[in-house]
Amino acid sequence: MNAINIDDLRRLARKRLPRVVFEFIDGGAQDEVTLRANRNDLSMLRLMPRVLTDITTRNQSVELFGQHYASPLVLAPTGLAGLLARRGELQAVRAAQSVNIPYCLSTMATRSIEEISAEVDSPHWFQLYVLRDRGLTRAFIERARAARCSALVLTVDTKMQGPRERDIRNGFTVPPRFTLSTMFDFATHLRWLFDVGLGPKIKFRNFENTGIDSDSALTITQFIANQYDLSVSWRDVEWFKSEWGGPVLLKGLLSPDDATQAVDAGLDGIIVSNHGGRQLDGAISAIAALPAISNAVEGRVPVILDGGVRRGADVIKAIALGASACMIGRAWLYGLGAGGEAGVERALTILRDEIDLAMALLGCAELSQIDDRVLVKQ
Ligand code: FNR
Repeated sequence: MNAINIDDLRRLARKRLPRVVFEFIDGGAQDEVTLRANRNDLSMLRLMPRVLTDITTRNQSVELFGQHYASPLVLAPTGLAGLLARRGELQAVRAAQSVNIPYCLSTMATRSIEEISAEVDSPHWFQLYVLRDRGLTRAFIERARAARCSALVLTVDTKMQGPRERDIRNGFTVPPRFTLSTMFDFATHLRWLFDVGLGPKIKFRNFENTGIDSDSALTITQFIANQYDLSVSWRDVEWFKSEWGGPVLLKGLLSPDDATQAVDAGLDGIIVSNHGGRQLDGAISAIAALPAISNAVEGRVPVILDGGVRRGADVIKAIALGASACMIGRAWLYGLGAGGEAGVERALTILRDEIDLAMALLGCAELSQIDDRVLVKQ
């Protein structure tokens, strides 16, 4: 595949996907200030190379929640990956397994927890949105356990959906509606049309047979407004911990006070994230939020950063500021849109090679050698 960096994969995905689909993954909330800040703030950090250290053997493997992984990368949960490629989520989990990094399945995927676990041997993570129907929430937890998921990720920044104005303007629905304006868009992307547009109906398959409508044309905002629990609070954390019994991570924290409360409440990991700039526009960038959270957490639980990671050096910068790993969202979605499973593998190879190169040029053979000394004080 002719892509030497993640931006090349983005360009290929833009070419191969209908506009309405590409903009769904590429866009952020409102003016996209936070979306841009995620990238800008990462790129403003400067690294300090060191020389003349023996870096013959470099090791970027990590341990997270008792499992050994090849790189400090996690495929972030993203809804509707099946809109990009018919077997989207299945291709992504296969790519993740092939390089030994975790894949986190979204509640809002187009493939079910069970389909994912039937596809691969390695355990994956499951991301849960807390639903009004607590019985259904519990059923999700049980299904994730039966499917050998190794971690539960509670996404807590989405009580309401951030307005993605590109989607509103494009009339984005699930499944995609064939209107006059989308018809031309779809018909000029033949590969996508035969793979996805004319394929089986796109559904939120985790909701099949649950009594919740999983397949009529909805905006995601409508779905969230109908189903998500607005009352969920810190008091519920214990319930999730005891229902699940394994590692529970909170995804979507930006405040150090929330991070302290999460650790005190017994949560096992924190994902510093503004949902890729898709929720509160104007919110602090993920990388700018990281140092205060790392300070508050004091190494008691792993901190994972997501938002704007497009280069291996971005991962190194996050580790320098106290993260154990990074989740990547759009980076793997661009790969999927550009070339299915091979595209996701390409995205992962690019990032792993770039991490390796950055380590070498920083004079670090191990991730444990990376701390804030590799950053230029500003
Ligand atoms: C997301 N994200 C997300 N998060 C989550 O917890 N559950 C979900 O279903 C989704 N769905 C989703 C769809 C799409 C198209 C995108 C782009 C993102 C957020 C995701 O997990 C992650 O936080 C961001 O994608 C990270 O930012 P980058 O890497 O995309 O810049």
